[in-house]
Formats: sequence, structure tokens, C-alpha cells
Amino acid sequence: MDLSFDSGKIIYLDNAATTFPKPREVLQQALDAYAHFGVNPGRSGYDLCMVAGELVFETRKVLATFLGGTKPERLVFAANATDALNLAIQGLLQSGDHAITTTVEHNSVIRPLNHLKRDRGVELDYVPFEAGGIVDPDEIARRFKPNTKVVVVNHGSNVIGTIQPVAEIGRRCRERGIVLVVDAAQTAGVIPINVEAMCIDVLCFTGHKSLLGPTGTGGLYVREGVEVRHTRFGGTGVHSAYPYHLEEYPYRLEAGTGNVLGIAGLYFAQQYLAKRGLKEIYAHEMELFARLQEGLEHIEGVTLHGTTSLERRLPVLSFTISGRDPADVGSLLDVDYNIAARTGLHCAPLIHQQLGTGERGTVRFSVGPMNERAHVDAAVEAVKEIAAEVQAGA
Ligand SMILES: Cc1ncc(COP(=O)(O)O)c(C=O)c1O
Repeated sequence: MDLSFDSGKIIYLDNAATTFPKPREVLQQALDAYAHFGVNPGRSGYDLCMVAGELVFETRKVLATFLGGTKPERLVFAANATDALNLAIQGLLQSGDHAITTTVEHNSVIRPLNHLKRDRGVELDYVPFEAGGIVDPDEIARRFKPNTKVVVVNHGSNVIGTIQPVAEIGRRCRERGIVLVVDAAQTAGVIPINVEAMCIDVLCFTGHKSLLGPTGTGGLYVREGVEVRHTRFGGTGVHSAYPYHLEEYPYRLEAGTGNVLGIAGLYFAQQYLAKRGLKEIYAHEMELFARLQEGLEHIEGVTLHGTTSLERRLPVLSFTISGRDPADVGSLLDVDYNIAARTGLHCAPLIHQQLGTGERGTVRFSVGPMNERAHVDAAVEAVKEIAAEVQAGA
């Protein structure tokens, strides 16, 4: 394996996949903590174990507060957003229930729901987004039926960057006693979230995107009063003589040894986010994003997909160049310009069906907290040159 690859030469515009690079200080602090007390937390009574357990509990507390939750024990750690969404979706729905979701969703929502529909007789409705990429909360409410149990919505799109009116959807669900599950994979860490104020019952997040933790981290916050059935069972380190998995949170949804190094990363990343401030990070990213969008939208042959509005928006942009396969554009960006972008369907096929880009997908640039003006300027220049080659060859 060649680890001498110089990542410093790369212009990284794939932050919707994972934020890169992570703040050095966060990585260093996490590594130091793990080097000093990276033992199995909560499994034994010796001091070292207690310190590790405290780190895990403190991180629950900090993250629960960060998300507007009031009960740290209801902040459950998982491997990523996909894992968290599977826990929530499979733990809330059963045969005969009706679920509603949207066409904005990622496969981490679509696939678990489709499996429940095909394999366990769950009824499922997809609500399309309107022009502008927003889902109408009333359209969701119009689909409510007596057996509607759960609504699952994306908070921020990883394809077109739109932010959904989650609080409005939440209010409609709350009036009917329907559980609202929110996929905050793209928003947690950059858009303020308050589960209480936004009427969110289960919030699923990933740790490695805007929360700036390592990959392999994520979780869910389950509001008090909402019960997610456990769908996996095992060791919890407490009440070991009891023959079944525990009902109480967080054990209810956690089984086996957790990711202590990753959780340490999330803890120190919270300190970084608090110091830099979500407002500053979002303003920084959106300033670069506006510059990127403005640069791209004037290039002949380039089509931007979704909305160009900067309101209710993440710094994520999908585009195509006429006459060019998005995959080829991605290769050219990589090979000729050292620019990292993502191409294809971005694990969200239904959005492309609606956009008309379902065959080959799009090229996606996504701005992160470590990007600079020079990065987006280089991306605009590169796309200009690639598009001009097509025009010249036409
Ligand atoms: C909107 C959305 N949901 C869910 C996920 C899944 O996140 P993870 O890969 O961390 O499980 C992603 C990842 O790109 C995403 O963009």
C-alpha cells in the first residue's frame, strides 16, 4: 500500500461525502485521549474504565444538548447515519403500518423502507418535491391515513442542497401522533437543529460530515415518549444476568463495544465547532458556494440542477456539461486538475428521476469548512476549460 500520496495537492470539493481534511487539533486530541484511556467503557469498575465511560457519557450530553435534546441517555451512538436510520426505521415500523417519505431521500432511507414494504407488508408513499426542491408539508399531511405510523424526511439534500421545512412537517405529524424521523446526515454540524422546537421525534445523524468527527461515527436522538424497538441484541456491560436485551436507553439501541476513538473525535470536534461557531462556518461555506455557483452558471454548456436559490440551502451543487458524461467530467477534474468531486446518482436515485438526470446523474461539488476561495476559483476555471473543449469539438 502506497501511503506517500500527497493529499495536499488535492482541491477537495466532495465534503458532502465526508468533510476533509478534519481539523488537525481534533484528530490529535482524540488520539491522545484514546492513547491514555482507550479501554472498554462501562464494562468494568476500575478507574481507567470509568474515565472512558465518562468520556462517552459527556459526549452523549454535549451532542444531545447540541441537537436540542434534554435527555443525554436518549442520544444513542451508531456507526453512521445509515446505521442510525436502519435502527429507527426498522424499530418503528411493522407489518400493516403506513410510512410516508419523499423523493429527496438518500438510499439509507429508501432502501430500508423498500425492504419493509417488500418483505414485511409496510405500506409506503413517496411525496415528490416541488419546483425548487422543497417538499410541501401539506402534501405530506394529505397522505396521512389511520395507519400512518412514521414520516421520514431528509433535512438537507446531498444532491441539490435544499433544506426541507422540517418544523412545519413536524407540527403536522405531532398533531396526528405520527412519528417524525429526520435524516440530518448533511445538516448536523452546520445548520442549527433543535429536536424539541422542530417537533422531531427521532433525529439521525452521521459524525463524519459537518460534525467533523471520524468516519464510523453517528447516532440518533430519540425523544422521550417515543419508543424504538430494538432490532439487535447483545452485551451492554450492565445487568448481564438478564436474558434479554435491555429496554432502557441508551442500551436499548446499543449492543457491543462502541467506537471510543470515534466518540472522542466527536467530543473534541464539538469543542472546535463551539469555538468557530456554526454561523461562521455556514457563512464561510455559503460565501464560497455563491462564488462557485455564480462562476458555473455563466459557462456555456453547463446546466445547474435543482434550485439556484441561496435561501434554505446547503453548499452542495449538482451540474452537467452538455455532451459530456458526468463520470468523464469527474475523471478529468481529478486527473487534469487535481479536483475531487463526486459524480453519478449520489445514492439518491429518485431525485434524479425527478430532475431528469436519472441515466448518468450529475457532477457534484460540495464546499466544506476547510475550503478557500482559490479552491472554488480553480473549480470554475477547470469546468470552463472542460466545457470549452466540448464546444470546440462540436
Ligand atoms: C442525505 C444523506 N443521508 C444519509 C447519508 C448516509 O450517511 P453515512 O454514509 O454516514 O451513513 C448520506 C451520506 O452521504 C447523506 O448524504
